[in-house]
Amino acid sequence: AIETGVARKSIDNWEAYRIELMKRMGLYNKLVRDVSVKAKSDPKKIVFADADHFKVLKAVDIVRNEGIAHPVLLGDRTAILKLAEENKIDVEGLPIIDPKEEDQKDRKENYAQMLFEKRMRKGLNKEDACRLMNDRNYFGVMMVEAGEADGFLGGFASKYADTIRPALQIVGSNNTLNHIAGMYIVMTKKGPYFFADTTVNYQPSSRTLADTTLLTVNEVKKFNIEPVVALVSYSNFGSTRQGSPLRVRKAVQYLHENYPNLIVDGEMQANYAFNAELRMKKFPFTKLGSREVNTVIFPSLSSGNIAYKMMQQLGQVEIIGPVLLGIRKPIHVLQMQASVREIVDMASITVVDAQTKDDDIIEL
Ligand code: ACO
Repeated sequence: AIETGVARKSIDNWEAYRIELMKRMGLYNKLVRDVSVKAKSDPKKIVFADADHFKVLKAVDIVRNEGIAHPVLLGDRTAILKLAEENKIDVEGLPIIDPKEEDQKDRKENYAQMLFEKRMRKGLNKEDACRLMNDRNYFGVMMVEAGEADGFLGGFASKYADTIRPALQIVGSNNTLNHIAGMYIVMTKKGPYFFADTTVNYQPSSRTLADTTLLTVNEVKKFNIEPVVALVSYSNFGSTRQGSPLRVRKAVQYLHENYPNLIVDGEMQANYAFNAELRMKKFPFTKLGSREVNTVIFPSLSSGNIAYKMMQQLGQVEIIGPVLLGIRKPIHVLQMQASVREIVDMASITVVDAQTKDDDIIEL
């Protein structure tokens, strides 16, 4: 009897789990569908930096067949053609650019000169600029900067820092704060949460935390969602007077003084951020009131990065991102070894970014 009970219970649980999953996937699919429909309405020329890797090539195939983007394959030509043949992926008619080949010499020389002129007063000499053009992240970002492609998607096969550094050096930020940060959208059954900074600034000062909050708020509004922001910490409203809580508190103070209309507060522990009832009981004075928080700013890169990865591994959530905030051109960086689906989703995000981004500096 006990055995039957256990078996029965696990079936019930599975059913409940399946229903929850469907609900959650519905939400996830809606957001992704919106982005991919918008991408297909005006597909852009996107450079895929690691086209000589199977998952990227597979994603390129989907992206092309679904009309999401016009892909440009960057990588080792022999490896791309071999992978395509082995896996029956049709690359006929797709531009393949292999920076090692002789016919790219002039282009590399041209890009190296552009990079040198940009950074000659920042310690870069011409020889180093030429050498960097053999790095496909520099080469690919340069294609966008030179106007030969509309967007860039890299990072599949290189460390995040190595992919984002060329973007920071070549393209830079698009806002008056001169700030760049990374965000993830965490899709839960309660709806989307926006987590930042999860990818860029490893030791944020209070001003960096405030700037990250402003960039994130700006992005959340693009989804037609009113940002309700918690800056989280291991302490609550002054209960610890040093270290990261102090930086968080100063960031909140700065935001309250300079952006009084923003619905933001902290520092607070995560349970008070995510549980409005609990928060109202203990801290009824916050600017958040009884609203549900949807945007979470972390005190450090470690905490933000760990939080979303833990949720991805343990929680019943879907993760979209990383979405690079504040960069001047449509440059996006994948998680290393991202799945085919993640690459396709990020390609859609890059296309939509290319449709909407202009060279104006945003006032924040
Ligand atoms: N916003 C705007 N500009 C920036 C920022 C920023 N957050 N960070 C650096 N810059 C600027 C620098 O001021 C510099 O400007 P310059 O043109 O005057 O030289 C330029 O970008 C290039 O900076 P570098 O000095 O070459 O690079 P830096 O050593 O500052 O490194 C980097 C920048 C690579 C982003 C570094 O901060 C880093 O490694 N961050 C962590 C990345 C990471 O490992 N993330 C976690 C994993 S990601 C994942 O899980 C998907």
